Amino acid sequence: MSQFDIVNKIALVTGGASGLGLQCAIKLLEEGARGVTLADINKVAGTKAVRDIEEKFGPNKAIFVYCNIQHKSDFENAFIKTIESFQNIDVLINNAGIFDDRCYEKEIGVNVIGVAHGMVLGVDKYIPKYRSGSEGLIVNVSSIAGINSFPFIPIYTGTKFAIHGMTLAWGDVFHYSRTKVRVVGVCPGATETPLLRNFAGLTLGPDYEAYMVEGLKLCPSQTPEQMANRTMEIIKKAPSGTMWVVEANMEPWKFELPNYQNIEKVSLDQVQ
Ligand SMILES: NC(=O)c1ccc[n+]([C@@H]2O[C@H](COP(=O)([O-])OP(=O)(O)OC[C@H]3O[C@@H](n4cnc5c(N)ncnc54)[C@H](O)[C@@H]3O)[C@@H](O)[C@H]2O)c1
Repeated sequence: MSQFDIVNKIALVTGGASGLGLQCAIKLLEEGARGVTLADINKVAGTKAVRDIEEKFGPNKAIFVYCNIQHKSDFENAFIKTIESFQNIDVLINNAGIFDDRCYEKEIGVNVIGVAHGMVLGVDKYIPKYRSGSEGLIVNVSSIAGINSFPFIPIYTGTKFAIHGMTLAWGDVFHYSRTKVRVVGVCPGATETPLLRNFAGLTLGPDYEAYMVEGLKLCPSQTPEQMANRTMEIIKKAPSGTMWVVEANMEPWKFELPNYQNIEKVSLDQVQ
């Protein structure tokens, strides 16, 4: 598979008003993207981010669209506003996500249903029709919690595994050959954003939280700028249906599940 060319492309970044999403939007423009849409629920931060982007890159490079990804109509509006402003949509970064195991219906709503809306709209409706080049691309932001068990955040872990599953299924050659949309996943390790800092009271209880404080001490961290730089490498080179771990700003490495049909089969008697 050849490299994905960012130059002159149009990107829609959910959760683009801050953190990793905003850094990805900025890096895409630095790499030559023609325009970005920041789709977010935080209007104040989103409007400021567009002003900052215009100061750095000039006018008409970014728009903010209020969008709660839990609502399909909001997400669809973000696609429509992108096409109205830039005539195309080539790249979707399904980045918006929250950590709140206490309010887990909302967490599942944002992290799983929100990403599912992005996939359905991106893969099957807007990107194949409005892409400007020969291929489109979707980057799903999972987590190291989407490939590994983190017992102190079980529901968040479940949501990130769900994103992993959607990436593998929609990244399959069956979809790529009919849509020409690459679907790749990133699994950031601990990244210094508000999500990582403000977890007090958001776990399922004091025991979980105490374990989380200890657990995070073992996780090497990185800045959102570093994570965004690594994401650009993944955007350019990753084949559809692949998952990439980025931890401590190390070079991205591919995470691959074994084929369940080929692994050694362990019976119930063997684990007794
Ligand atoms: N920070 C980390 O350590 C880390 C590690 C692994 C994965 N991630 C993932 O990276 C992604 C980005 O997180 P971040 O660390 O930059 O967090 P962040 O809190 O800095 O940014 C998240 C952005 O998403 C927006 N948002 C929240 N709910 C939304 C909704 N319903 N609709 C639209 N926008 C919404 C917020 O307003 C915010 O601008 C998330 O999916 C997160 O799970 C983060």
